[in-house]
Amino acid sequence: MSSNAATTSGGGDSHPPRRNSKRPKYSRFTQQELPACKPILTPQWVVSAFLLISIIFVPIGVACLLASHDVVEIIDQYETECVPENLRGDKLAFIQDPRTEKTCTRILTVPKQMKQPIYVYYELDNFYQNHRRYVKSRSDKQLQDPEYEDTITTCDPEDKTGTGAPIVPCGLIAWSLFNDTYSFSRNKKDLVVNKKDISWKSDRDGKFSDKVFPKNFQSGTLIGGGKLDPKKPLSEQEDLIVWMRTAALPTFRKLYGRIEVDLEANEVIQVTLENNYNTYSFGGKKKLVLSTTSWLGGKNNFLGVAYITVGGLCFFLAMAFIVVYLIKPRRLGDPAYLSWNRNSAGN
Ligand SMILES: *[C@@H]1O[C@H](CO)[C@@H](O)[C@H](O)[C@H]1NC(C)=O
Repeated sequence: MSSNAATTSGGGDSHPPRRNSKRPKYSRFTQQELPACKPILTPQWVVSAFLLISIIFVPIGVACLLASHDVVEIIDQYETECVPENLRGDKLAFIQDPRTEKTCTRILTVPKQMKQPIYVYYELDNFYQNHRRYVKSRSDKQLQDPEYEDTITTCDPEDKTGTGAPIVPCGLIAWSLFNDTYSFSRNKKDLVVNKKDISWKSDRDGKFSDKVFPKNFQSGTLIGGGKLDPKKPLSEQEDLIVWMRTAALPTFRKLYGRIEVDLEANEVIQVTLENNYNTYSFGGKKKLVLSTTSWLGGKNNFLGVAYITVGGLCFFLAMAFIVVYLIKPRRLGDPAYLSWNRNSAGN
């Protein structure tokens, strides 16, 4: 058998394979003859690769840090200060009592010149918008299409009023809409806050219909948060649209509006604030944030620090390899280093 096989395949390369031959068709893939990159990592290569990475990364990191440094941010935490001192013992009673005075005045000083647009955010803390039962309690169909107003099943426990009428927009997310309000003035003159275009355009155009109007919203005995104007379609209720894009983390900021004038250093801004929203029952913080932006967005040092760390590490490794190479160089592929050679040398 074996000699037979040897004769059939003997002069194989020059003859075309015979018809019933078991020999596989020749291809460079099956024969593992495809071209491949087989770099030899010489010290020069390794050191220059590390150096190149550090030369690229460190300047990017510095640019990111500078951009973040240029952003001016004013943060004012107010959930305690906006409760009158004699009522701070029981903040929950204060916020739940509709007769208490919720208006509160805050004074902010601008630390550095702030170029417009200045973004106004509210920041909540310890608020788990990512909780499973909360996230699922909404109906995108109902928001999109007036036909589905009555047939929603996913909004439990905020789907119907006590008398069985459908709630639009339904669900816990809409129900818990943030309802603190802010207005700003400087030198007794109002600073206008532009609340248009604070939500995603795709949300306004696609997810929230201009034919669906709020109905029976916040009409129950337990009010969860803000109310909506029943004459405005959902696509124009931008605070709701922003609120319903749920945050992934328990500390989050949401856009409230934009101030479209420059603020100069040391100017005093007076904020008149309605402290309505109940974060006291779960110990959440409330903050008002005014912030400018750079080409990289808001204030955040993480990206810059990450780039500089990686770049710096690569630079350090490059230097270390250079030092090792200079102090104790060796020939590449020296067979004397092979274990069996070393052993025999030892014997
Ligand atoms: C604001 O929301 C709270 C719940 O967090 C509610 O008790 C209160 O009635 C609401 N106030 C207004 C003015 O909508």
